Amino acid sequence: MNRLPLLCANWKMNHTPREAAAWARAFGDRIAPYAARFKEHLELAVAPPSPALDRLGEPLKEIGVHLAAQNVHAEASGAFTGEVSAGMLEELGCRYVLIGHSERRQLFGEQDIEIAAKARRLQSSTLRPILCVGETLQERERNATLEVVERQLRTVLETADGLGATLVVAYEPVWAIGTGQTASPEVAQDVHSALRGLLIERLGEVGRDVRILYGGSVKPANAGALLSQADIDGALVGGASLDPESFATLALASLETS
Ligand code: PGA
Repeated sequence: MNRLPLLCANWKMNHTPREAAAWARAFGDRIAPYAARFKEHLELAVAPPSPALDRLGEPLKEIGVHLAAQNVHAEASGAFTGEVSAGMLEELGCRYVLIGHSERRQLFGEQDIEIAAKARRLQSSTLRPILCVGETLQERERNATLEVVERQLRTVLETADGLGATLVVAYEPVWAIGTGQTASPEVAQDVHSALRGLLIERLGEVGRDVRILYGGSVKPANAGALLSQADIDGALVGGASLDPESFATLALASLETS
């Protein structure tokens, strides 16, 4: 088993390029004394809005933080107004791309099959998908959590069957995103463990090396307990990543348990 924990900031539609650069300076100053420990024990990444990707590439590289994108189109190029391609993101130095975030699914109508096509596109690039899966409150209340998240993961594994350990999965219960309501470490671990089972079933031993992040109201105060669960290999963080001080506190708390 070879899983370096990953903490990824998802800024959503927040921070202009200028604000993003200021964030990188402040965050870099705060984590600099721990650079060697991060290198060994905890990977860091930031997913800014697309217009800030270019501006953020160099400053993040200097402080040992990876660049991530929030979305990608399944086609390599063409008449898709408003979309960005994997090739563009590669050229900007991205390492990760979020696919299937619940806001994309719910607000922009993205379906499993399109998300799987994005994952297949990423297979022929150097980008690594962070596939988000998660159930709504109604689905949890009717005990459909595992059915939903397993379907979301299975569709991708069947379509993009060469992904292997470059895949990262993020379990983000929709009812916990931006609500301040976090899944308890035990509730999250149960779902992570089911996802791990499916990964091993489809990918064999490689499934043990796939990182499964938790997302949904992760804060400095709850990060340690979540990350100390056996199958929670990091976190995807929205609100608490916008302020560099808060994300640095969260990163240092996570480092303690990594
Ligand atoms: P949150 O968002 O941390 O603000 O709940 C997480 C996410 O949507 O990735």
